[in-house]
Amino acid sequence: MNNKKVGIIGVGNVGSTLAFNLASKNICSEIVLKDVRENIVKAMALDISQSAHAANSLTNVTAAINADEFSDCDVVVITAGVARKPGMSRDDLLLINAKIMTSVINDTIKYNPNAIIIIVSNPLDAMVYTALKASKWPRNKIIGMAGILDSSRMAHFIFEKLAYGQGQIKASVMGGHGDDMVPLPNFSTVNGLALTEVLSNDDIEDIVNKTKNGGAQIVKLLETGSAYYAPAYSTSLMVEAILEDKKEVYPCAIMLEGEYGYDNIVAGVPIMLGKNGVEKVIELNLEDNQKEQFNKSINSVQELVDTLEKNLF
Ligand code: LAC
Repeated sequence: MNNKKVGIIGVGNVGSTLAFNLASKNICSEIVLKDVRENIVKAMALDISQSAHAANSLTNVTAAINADEFSDCDVVVITAGVARKPGMSRDDLLLINAKIMTSVINDTIKYNPNAIIIIVSNPLDAMVYTALKASKWPRNKIIGMAGILDSSRMAHFIFEKLAYGQGQIKASVMGGHGDDMVPLPNFSTVNGLALTEVLSNDDIEDIVNKTKNGGAQIVKLLETGSAYYAPAYSTSLMVEAILEDKKEVYPCAIMLEGEYGYDNIVAGVPIMLGKNGVEKVIELNLEDNQKEQFNKSINSVQELVDTLEKNLF
């Protein structure tokens, strides 16, 4: 067992599911949980610690009540914030969650100076921007989880169409984590076969539209919250890649510094993920229509960032 430590801020459905997932995988020696709801975080720590013992896992799970007890983590995952309700867009959460993010990030960096931070809170791209601006940390250390989730949804809808290839579908999505996200059929495959080889353009367009609406579809069905199993599992992949320095390629939300022709804006792009967080940014040769979609997605994030700059920074 390594001596790695993972901190999770926010033990709602996503945070607690992530903690449970990590604790059962034996990939870190300690998980520390934090939440503004003291009894909830104590209960989650007890319950997930007991699940770890049932799994003969070596991971110790504890609750941090005071800020200085949430310290020395190698990876910190921030899920804190208000979840959307039916009819709300992720963008509707902007200012309330930006204020929460700002207060959370300052304590996080104070007691976890060596951590790589993964942001899950929505609106995701704007929350990554907020965390970077509030912390003044370099972009490699603060990364948003969204593209893995959106790609998993695209894979689900591809399988729904094909009814074969389960476990062999690799979907690609980039851009902001919102209605303007950019699913990439020409970078999506079924055991190496391009999607365009196995599906019609109409089917692909239907998959793209369902992918964009994947989060809202679950919010509408749940009525009282948003998805958590796929977000939590997607986040666990990022945690593992960082802790084990796997140098894996994933679509993640990062601050662009000239890549794809954009600067000082956050969006989902393919990166190589390792112990230093963002190890490399991968620039794809996008088709003209994909460049237009990506630009539209960037502009949607820019509108949120402009609101933040006007009201918060
Ligand atoms: C979703 C949230 C995590 O897409 O944004 O379900």
